[in-house]
Amino acid sequence: MIKEIYYFLRYGPGVQRQKKELGHVEFMRAIASGLDAGGFAELRASLVGDLEGEILEIGSGTGAAFQYYGPKANVTAIEPDDEFRVASEETAESATATICVIPGAGEKLPFQESAFDVVTTSMSLCSVASPPETLAEFKRILRPGGRLRLLEHVRSEHWLAGPLQDLFNPIWIRINNVGCNMNRKTVESVSGAGFTIQSIESHKIYVKAAPATFPFRVIKAVKPG
Ligand SMILES: C[S@@+](CC[C@H](N)C(=O)[O-])C[C@H]1O[C@@H](n2cnc3c(N)ncnc32)[C@H](O)[C@@H]1O
Repeated sequence: MIKEIYYFLRYGPGVQRQKKELGHVEFMRAIASGLDAGGFAELRASLVGDLEGEILEIGSGTGAAFQYYGPKANVTAIEPDDEFRVASEETAESATATICVIPGAGEKLPFQESAFDVVTTSMSLCSVASPPETLAEFKRILRPGGRLRLLEHVRSEHWLAGPLQDLFNPIWIRINNVGCNMNRKTVESVSGAGFTIQSIESHKIYVKAAPATFPFRVIKAVKPG
């Protein structure tokens, strides 16, 4: 936990300054490329690289995950923020997969039941207004046996770090500008929504570009058939 606090205090102020200089979209792109260079790229590739069929990505941001889909992926990406959505559309043009970006929110998806083979998110369940409503929608629009692939940061299980995340979350929400919560219990939310969890990987990424080093989980789950 000492290393996490060091990174936050040492590099956080510079990143806050950069946020003002770069603006919304370029700042998000800088965070995403900093994370990718620090090991996130491999996690993104393992999350979506093998996917085929009808895929729904929620909260695509600037489209940072798009380059990691393979050629047999037919992706519909939802992004509620207008500026991010334009950035996602630009990123989609150079992707190998076929990607269509539309407005919307995870809590109310404009699709019929069982319309998708896979739903995926990266760092978006921390930002949606309601994880239970969003996960219920994921379950509705996935076909039976459909897959859930999530790359999310979560509340720490450490006896002190978890309560500290609870304490600082209100301040964190005010400074991050994308509605990100640092203390969501996403693994528990996925189980609670009725998905069957197949695997959970734990990761930590230490990069100067994104000095809030929360624990990451790669969660793979299925909708019971
Ligand atoms: C931290 S960014 C992650 C962006 C991208 N997935 C990535 O990996 O770089 C969180 C994203 O969730 C989006 N978001 C916020 N509320 C949402 C909601 N209710 N439904 C879907 N996306 C949402 C934000 O607009 C933002 O693009």
